[in-house]
Amino acid sequence: MRKAAVTGHPIGHSKSPLIHGYWLKQHGIEGSYVAQDVPPETARSFYSSLPEHGFVGCNVTIPNKEHAYNAAEKLDDAAKMIGAVNTLWLDENGVLNGSNTDGLGFLGNLDQLLPNWDKNGNKAIVLGAGGAARAIIWALLSRGYTEVYIANRTMEKAQKLADHFGPNTIAISWDTLGEKLGEADLLVNTTSLGMTGQPELKIDLDNLSKSAVVTDIVYSPLQTELLRDATERGNRTVDGLGMLLHQAVPGFEKWFGVRPEVTGELRKIILREMGLA
Ligand code: ATR
Repeated sequence: MRKAAVTGHPIGHSKSPLIHGYWLKQHGIEGSYVAQDVPPETARSFYSSLPEHGFVGCNVTIPNKEHAYNAAEKLDDAAKMIGAVNTLWLDENGVLNGSNTDGLGFLGNLDQLLPNWDKNGNKAIVLGAGGAARAIIWALLSRGYTEVYIANRTMEKAQKLADHFGPNTIAISWDTLGEKLGEADLLVNTTSLGMTGQPELKIDLDNLSKSAVVTDIVYSPLQTELLRDATERGNRTVDGLGMLLHQAVPGFEKWFGVRPEVTGELRKIILREMGLA
């Protein structure tokens, strides 16, 4: 029986076992997917010896994504550019492969809920400069965005990301956000602002074009203040839950050999578990 896991520390609140458990059942696969606590001190050696622990691969979450990056023998383009690994699998030669599927999850969510969202996509504004921002900047560049503006509370971190991703990415100060909003086709919040228990994200959308798409990686609450404001003024919006679901797809396919779908039923199951439906 093929066995995979989500690994991190702590790991109790992960939604991944529910997501993969749903797909295993839906496809009648005799496999399993568990939550495995892996403290950072032992992470590197754990990932380097997955078969000895009974796993064909795993997901990796906080605080182990860099350890997984270092343990992987082969990295795909996304993992290299994002600088962190959230999905590991052993290929047919027993080589440990690492990927970062957060960017693909971001794209999969928009593709599913707003087909052609990127058709005329050119200029995007990314709020935040952490790990999630790196994945989303990679994703936008992979879809041909030519100007990706990065605004962050700590400007130096935005500048560091812009230097890393090259000339199509430009760091801007939080104060000049208002001016830049007028040019954007897409606005993405990748900060934790707006999440339950965190301060609200306060930005003035007055200059934002009505044709711009607004999306948030925060999914609890599902409708953040940013998405509510954007919807009220007539912008198209996409919430962040789908990114969580879609980032799980490539791993499941690698471990269990079937490409699963993000269905409305799966979305409902996760919302119910979060007490949001
Ligand atoms: P993740 O991996 O989820 O992106 P992270 O790497 O900790 O998490 O990044 C969190 C992001 O949210 C950062 O851009 C952070 O801004 P700083 O780089 O200035 O710390 C942003 N963030 C978190 N709390 C914030 C707050 N109260 N105000 C503004 N930005 C905040």
